[in-house]
Formats: sequence, structure tokens, C-alpha cells
Amino acid sequence: MPFSRIVILTGAGISAESGVDTFRDKGGIWSKVDYRDVATPEGFARDPDRVHEFYNMRRQRMKDVQPNAAHFALARLEREFQGEFLLVTQNIDDLHEKAGSQKLLHMHGEHTKALCANCGSRHEWREDLSRAIPCPACGSKGYLRPDVVWFGEMPYHMEAIYQALRSADLFISIGTSGNVYPAAQFVQEAARAGAYTVELNLEPSEGIDDFAEAIHGRATEVVPAFVERLLKV
Ligand code: APR
Ligand code: ZN
Repeated sequence: MPFSRIVILTGAGISAESGVDTFRDKGGIWSKVDYRDVATPEGFARDPDRVHEFYNMRRQRMKDVQPNAAHFALARLEREFQGEFLLVTQNIDDLHEKAGSQKLLHMHGEHTKALCANCGSRHEWREDLSRAIPCPACGSKGYLRPDVVWFGEMPYHMEAIYQALRSADLFISIGTSGNVYPAAQFVQEAARAGAYTVELNLEPSEGIDDFAEAIHGRATEVVPAFVERLLKV
């Protein structure tokens, strides 16, 4: 294999065939709910119960959702690839973990974590959240929120992500529409570092012109095939 440092970015499209709704496809989440009401700090300040209800419903639904062949293919690539590997996901589901991925960063946070806006503590959280629940660390009520990055907030792990992008020789973008920054700009960062850039997606993303190669199709087909090709070289 001619590559030694791989960075992968995934979005909602990799979880679509596991039954998780994407955001901007036809009938996607943002066609049913206004993101300003449930995915912004202002929305949370305005109506925290509405935000808790939105994430509680999705957290519950995540319990029965299983990883698909694309998640498993990325976990296989991490195990069998000899060089440096980093998987960055925009997704807040835990399907990459369930498939066995370990070198993984959730830049938009995680469903299964709660954050206390009062003391800054983080907690594993798989049940419903509400204003009535006291923070396990500081005891305050009404400050626990889903530990997810809302619009207008700074994504997590940016330092580590840019460091990896700047030394990558292969960047693969999977299942993302390329609508949301800074993730949408990672391909340019990697290309600037001289990386070969590949898009694996159901259809051309907003950033399609920035990629050296694009393979369009369903993730459960194109991702295992691409991993096979990478590991064969
Ligand atoms: N296989 C591969 N790609 C797919 C599949 C599939 N089965 N189904 C959908 N896709 C593609 C769509 O073509 C689309 O380009 O996945 C992409 C999903 O795009 P979005 O719904 O915009 O999701 P994403 O890019 O992850 O959104 C980024 O926006 O709302 C915020 O924080 C949220 O992390 C999210 C961010
Ligand atoms: Zn607290």
C-alpha cells in the first residue's frame, strides 16, 4: 500500500443503512425539526425541555441500532493497516465504537454523554436527560445538557484533527454532504498537505470538486470495497 498516514471523516450517511436518519437528505431530520430549536445554545436556553425531548428520543432509538458493513470495514482497516490511522466522525451515535473502532474522535460530541454547563463535568449517559436531574458532580439542577456540539459552538478535538490532516497522505470522506464547517474544509487541509483525497458517498457532496477521486454508491457497498482495495495494495 502506497499510503502510511490515513485520516477518515464520516458523516450521517455511514449510519443511514443502520436505520439512523440523516440530516439533509429528503425527509431528513432538518426537514422535520428546525435546527435552531434543538441544535443551538439559544434553542436550549429558550426551551430546554424541547431540546431534551429531541435528544432523549434519538438516544433511546440508538439503543437498538447496529453498525453496518461500512462501520465494520473501517474497524478492519484500523486493525490491519500498518501506518498511522485516525477516524474523525461528525456523528454522535456510537456505531463506530460498536463496530470496534478505537482510534476515533467525535468532533460533534456523543449521544451517550452528558455535560454540566455549571461545573463542566462530563458523564456517561444512556437514559433520558431533563432539567430535574441533578449533576452527579456539583448537584446543580437544570445545567445538564447533551454533550453534543451545537451550531455556533466549537467542535471538539480540533487541534488533534488538524495535526493529523497536515501529515496525512490519504484522506477519505464518507457519508457527509459537506455542508457544515469546519468538517467540510478538511479535504482542502489534507490536499494542501499533499494527501490523496477520496469521497465515498451516495451522491456528489458540496465539496466534490476538492476530491482527487469519488466513488458514489451506498456506504455498505463502496466502503468495504475501498478498504479491500487499500489493504490489497
Ligand atoms: N451511503 C452513503 N452515503 C449516504 C447514504 C448511504 N446509504 N445515505 C445518505 N448518504 C449521504 C447523503 O448523500 C449526504 O451527502 O450522506 C450525506 C448526509 O449528509 P447530511 O445529512 O448533511 O449529514 P452530515 O454531512 O453528517 O451533516 C453534518 O450537520 O446537522 C449537523 O451536526 C450535524 O454532524 C451533522 C453535520
Ligand atoms: Zn455540575
